[in-house]
Amino acid sequence: MKMESSDKVKYVLWFAQEHVNFRAADIESVASIFNIEVNYHTEISDVPYCIVELPSEKEAHLLASRCISLRSVLELWGHGKTNEELHNSIQQTPKDRMYPHFVSEKSFRLTVETFCKSLSMKEKVERIESFSYLPIEGNVNLKDPDVTFYLLEYFGQDSNNIPEQPYELFFGRWVADGQRSLIQKLSLKTRHFLGNTSMDAQLSLLMANQAKIVPGSLVYDPFVGSGSLLVSAAQFGGYVSGADIDFLMIHGKSRPVRPNQKVREKGESIKSNMQQYNLSSKYVGVLVADFARPLWRPDVRFDAILTDPPYGVREATFKVGSWRGPDIKPIAEKHLPHHIPAKVDYDLQELMRDLLDFAANHLCMGGRLVFWLPICREEYDEEKSLPKHKCLRLIYNCEQVLSCHSSRLLLCMEKVKEPVTKEKTPPAELTSTTRFRHRYFGGKEQKE
Ligand SMILES: C[S@@+](CC[C@H](N)C(=O)[O-])C[C@H]1O[C@@H](n2cnc3c(N)ncnc32)[C@H](O)[C@@H]1O
Repeated sequence: MKMESSDKVKYVLWFAQEHVNFRAADIESVASIFNIEVNYHTEISDVPYCIVELPSEKEAHLLASRCISLRSVLELWGHGKTNEELHNSIQQTPKDRMYPHFVSEKSFRLTVETFCKSLSMKEKVERIESFSYLPIEGNVNLKDPDVTFYLLEYFGQDSNNIPEQPYELFFGRWVADGQRSLIQKLSLKTRHFLGNTSMDAQLSLLMANQAKIVPGSLVYDPFVGSGSLLVSAAQFGGYVSGADIDFLMIHGKSRPVRPNQKVREKGESIKSNMQQYNLSSKYVGVLVADFARPLWRPDVRFDAILTDPPYGVREATFKVGSWRGPDIKPIAEKHLPHHIPAKVDYDLQELMRDLLDFAANHLCMGGRLVFWLPICREEYDEEKSLPKHKCLRLIYNCEQVLSCHSSRLLLCMEKVKEPVTKEKTPPAELTSTTRFRHRYFGGKEQKE
């Protein structure tokens, strides 16, 4: 994050206070997609704002066109820790920046927004009137104004201890809203086909941004389940495909998960979800396949791999195999059409090794692998707990806290070099991941 100070136009990034740990990665990934140079005047942290400098308003629109964690972007005209500081800073803003928006031809609205405090209508009107020195000539239009001015007041985050006066005040012109509306559009509540491990829309969209999916990207999810990650990737223009070992899930025949649903509706499938969102043209297809077995030709390349691997908590973690080992008799030709292969436990460390090897072999150079890893919080050690691969560089590690003991990390890795040998890397020692499973099942390693 580059921190600089100059007289260029500054913008306030006003964030939604949800998945706070994911917002820096969201902004940085989107900035990188559009090649936007962002100079940070304040750090992206747990407060719902960040002041940045952008080359022009066009870049503010581009950031807002993809960022999920952003509520709005404002052109900053004033900022202070008190009302006096705020109004002084507005007076110092170059007139040629503000005055073109004050002309009589432009209708306007002044919106007062507070964080961690509600204001009465009377208090809001008092605040609006404190800006009466600005020579705004346009008519007020509350419904559809040509320009919206914003006063943002930040009262901290402790709802049990709200101060009389805000800690920070910002004034500016609204430029654009982020993509929060996509969270509703793709909500699981209204999704046609659901599985019991479908990823919620907001996290799926954040994953697609970290993976830097752009129109035309070829995207793959090797543990596709109900395809929720494909939906968000397709929403951003990716051509999506996936695989899963579970035949019933892939064919939309698994047990329904909605409380009042006894049988699946006709046509429930990943494909029908794509149709629901008008994304059919982005759907390449899904396959039944065991990730532990090679499926793709060595020269196949994906632009991004997005996945939520099985951890044996809400879904089984297995692969095709036999406890009798590799020395089993081949199946007779005549039995093959009806043969159901035996399954064995897919060890988590082995699965992680396979996932990273797969990404190293099948990602385009610079392509990203974005996936979840559960951890046991007290034993987590960034050095020892994360899987590594010499061809992949860790870009982001965002924690979603699940309980006081456990979290899951969203890891984003970028391919930085081609593997020289196609040999498998030895499985990594993932201490806290293994213990996560051990702990989760009450001290016993789970058996499927
Ligand atoms: C956490 S779920 C993925 C959920 C998915 N993101 C969704 O939207 O529904 C993990 C999936 O991995 C699948 N799976 C388990 N073992 C597998 C294997 N060896 N190869 C491929 N898929 C496997 C499970 O059937 C399950 O659907």
